[in-house]
Amino acid sequence: MKVSVVIPAAGQGKRMKADKNKQFLLLDGMPILAHTIDKFEQVDLIEEIIVVAQKDEIDYCKNKIIDEYNFTKVNKIITGGATRQESVYNGLQAVSQDTDYILTHDGARPLLTTELIRHIITKVKQYKAVLTAVPVKDTIKVVNQDEMVINTPDRSKLVAVQTPQAFVKDLIIKAYQQAAKNNIVGTDSASLVENLGKSVKVIRGSYENIKVTTPEDLEVAEKIVIRRKE
Ligand code: CTP
Ligand code: MG
Repeated sequence: MKVSVVIPAAGQGKRMKADKNKQFLLLDGMPILAHTIDKFEQVDLIEEIIVVAQKDEIDYCKNKIIDEYNFTKVNKIITGGATRQESVYNGLQAVSQDTDYILTHDGARPLLTTELIRHIITKVKQYKAVLTAVPVKDTIKVVNQDEMVINTPDRSKLVAVQTPQAFVKDLIIKAYQQAAKNNIVGTDSASLVENLGKSVKVIRGSYENIKVTTPEDLEVAEKIVIRRKE
């Protein structure tokens, strides 16, 4: 059984307002993207890591992340696209033919754990499509363009979706192909599988597995990394 992971890291990190792509900012002395890759390197079941980067950051990724930290499973760095969906799709096309399962995971989520990676791999064998999520803590409202409330969904039925997500290879590839063909844009990989009419299993993620998006997230992430070392 072969498992690959596609890590999209080709965004611009605009909301971080830093002078470089947020994935290269340091968390406790190590770039965010290196923290992320390192978790997958540590899990024996993961055989292949495909990193997706902006064209002009591929060399930097290779020299300052992959070579610098001696990562051995990253066999390809692929050029990203204009959206996360395009970047993931580019990565999916570079996955080895003989892979059975593909995980997708944001480069900007460095705080996932090796336990979670192992757990989702166990579950994908049973369910074919699995995502990680946490119950929402806030009440969520649907609003219109004038910022008037339309309705309030029952919070007990809502979860906030994270990555990793995991899929049977042929299923995820088909989902992205169909989406590209029909001009469908989804904010996560699972939604494209849902569009095929397939069921997706939800497993418990972690409130600590944040996506580093704004400067406050960087501060929180740094604290968590340091606490975990103690
Ligand atoms: N991503 C990508 N290709 C894109 C856009 C996003 O690979 N064209 C990746 C990001 O690098 C990130 C993940 O998708 O790891 C989640 O995206 P997000 O947190 O929105 O990152 P950015 O798009 O970089 O940030 P922002 O939206 O603030 O510009
Ligand atoms: Mg973005």
